[in-house]
Amino acid sequence: MKLIFLGPPGAGKGTLADLAVDVLKVPHISTGDLFRAAVKAGSPLGLKVKDIMATGGLVPDELTIEIVRERLSQPDAKNGWILDGFPRTIPQADSLEKLAPADRAVNFEVADEIVIGRLSTRRVCRGCGKIYNVKTMAPKKDGVCDACGGEVYTRDDDKAEAIKFRLETYRKQTEPLIAWFGAKGKLVTIDGVGDPKVVLERFRKALGV
Ligand code: AP5
Ligand code: MG
Ligand code: ZN
Repeated sequence: MKLIFLGPPGAGKGTLADLAVDVLKVPHISTGDLFRAAVKAGSPLGLKVKDIMATGGLVPDELTIEIVRERLSQPDAKNGWILDGFPRTIPQADSLEKLAPADRAVNFEVADEIVIGRLSTRRVCRGCGKIYNVKTMAPKKDGVCDACGGEVYTRDDDKAEAIKFRLETYRKQTEPLIAWFGAKGKLVTIDGVGDPKVVLERFRKALGV
């Protein structure tokens, strides 16, 4: 199954994708994670995107489409995938439709006040990318990843100013994709509020998986 996870920053796309891969047995491909890996490695791509990401703006479409094209050509993506955080603009959606059309776009609905609360308390593992929350899903040992022992840190773009800018960017550039996928008959809408396990059940029911 080829799925797109849509929704504002902090909607729980990454968290749900990590749960859904166990059900669907397809890779979780997050463009945000791919870019963060490039920044960490200090690659030419990483140097280009570092400042854009820290402020919460969007990486140019050409670079983003290229990284997705490359990732989808890997053998593990042959039988399907969950694309988390891509597409995020109409040109990106057009490109994906030509490259490898998704079966469904799953939109997680969560109100702004809730996502702001979630993002200001989020922590992420620098080693394996596991997502935590100091209020609701803290690692067992403060600052240390349960899964890999890596450092659990606060993303640069989880500062108040960047969160605000990401939400504005989402409204302008990404939210129009809801209607775009709706018009193609591919949209599935899921209430993203509640325990992640409850949201996973809603997802399974809505998709019949
Ligand atoms: P990206 O990494 O994709 O960030 P984002 O879209 O802003 O989304 P987030 O990762 O912040 O939120 P999420 O929905 O995954 O929530 P999560 O599960 O972590 O992109 C980062 C940057 O990369 C962009 O700003 C841009 O610069 C660049 N980029 C990436 N893709 C791009 C593209 N296509 N085009 C151009 N540029 C691109 O959950 C958040 C918190 O909530 C966590 O603490 C979690 O524990 C908690 N939580 C999750 N679910 C629940 C729940 N059900 N109940 C309570 N808490 C929950
Ligand atoms: Mg994410
Ligand atoms: Zn880890």
